[in-house]
Amino acid sequence: MDTSVSNEDFLATVAEKSNGAALRGDYQHMDAHYVVQQDWNAYTEAEHELWRKLYQRQSALLPGRACDEFIEALAKMDIGAGIPVFEKTSKELFAATGWTIVAVPGLIPELTFFDHLANRRFPVTVWLRTPEEFNYIVEPDVFHDFFGHVPLLFNPVFADYMQRYGQGGLKAMKLGGLDELARLYWYTVEFGLINTPVGVRIYGAGILSSGGEVEYCLTPGTKSRHIRLDIERCLRTLYKIDSYQETYFVIDSYQQLFDGTAPDFTPIYEKLKSMDVLPANSLLDGEVELLPAQ
Ligand code: PHE
Ligand code: FE
Repeated sequence: MDTSVSNEDFLATVAEKSNGAALRGDYQHMDAHYVVQQDWNAYTEAEHELWRKLYQRQSALLPGRACDEFIEALAKMDIGAGIPVFEKTSKELFAATGWTIVAVPGLIPELTFFDHLANRRFPVTVWLRTPEEFNYIVEPDVFHDFFGHVPLLFNPVFADYMQRYGQGGLKAMKLGGLDELARLYWYTVEFGLINTPVGVRIYGAGILSSGGEVEYCLTPGTKSRHIRLDIERCLRTLYKIDSYQETYFVIDSYQQLFDGTAPDFTPIYEKLKSMDVLPANSLLDGEVELLPAQ
C-alpha cells in the first residue's frame, strides 16, 4: 500500500483546518514518511534546561497518580537530564517490545501516523515548546510525545494495542470511521485512566504530560466524572480539545483495550452512522459514576 502523502496536500489540509495558521515544524527535510533526523546537537542549553524543569515538575506529580507501568519505565529511561537522544531510548524500546521511535517535524498526516503505528514505530516531534508554553501548548511537542507516550510503549500489551490501533486507523479511513476511531485514541491513549488494586491511576499521555490535569482528573467534585470504558459508547463521545476532559473512561487492564478492539469494527461504524454523537459531559441511563461529578 502506498502510504506516502504529499507535503503540499498535507500542509494545505492543515491550513484549511486551522484557518491558515501554519504548523511550527520544519517540513523541508524529511522522507516520504515524514521522518527527519533528530539533530540533537542543535538543541540549546536553554532548551535542555526547560526540559529539565518540565521533567521535574511532571515527575514529582506522578507517585500515587500515574500507573506503575509508566513510573517504572520512565525511571529506567533515565531522561531527566535534558532532551533525550531518540536513538538511545529507541534501542531500549526495541529490545523490550519491538517498537522504535522515529523523529518527525510535528503533526503528520493521519495515513502516515497510522502507518507508523501499524509498523510499531512511534513518531516523536523534535522541537520543544517555549518557556511561555510551560503550562499549556496547542501542538504536541517533544515533551508531550516523548515523556507522555514512550514509557507505556515498554508495556507489551499496551504496545500491541497501539499497533492494532494503527491497523484499525488504516481500515477506518476506508470505512469512514475516522472521527469515531479518533475518539477512542483520545479517551484511551491520551486521557485514559486504569483501575488498579490500589486505586484509579493515569495512563493517558495527554494527562501525564500536563501540569494541571494530573491532579485535576483524580479530584472528586469537579465537573468531570469517571465512567467505565465501553468502546462503542466511547466511539460516540465528543471530546474537549481546549479544556480538561469532562469524562474520563476507566479501564481494568490493557488487555481490555487489546481484546476490545480485536473484532471487526465495520458493523460498529455502520451502526453508529445512524446514532447521535454524545456531548463530552453525557451520562447515559445505567452508567455508574465511579468518581462523581459535582
Ligand atoms: N479491529 C478493528 C476493526 O476491525 C480496528 C481497531 C483496532 C479499532 C484498534 C480500534 C482499535 O476495524
Ligand atoms: Fe499525544
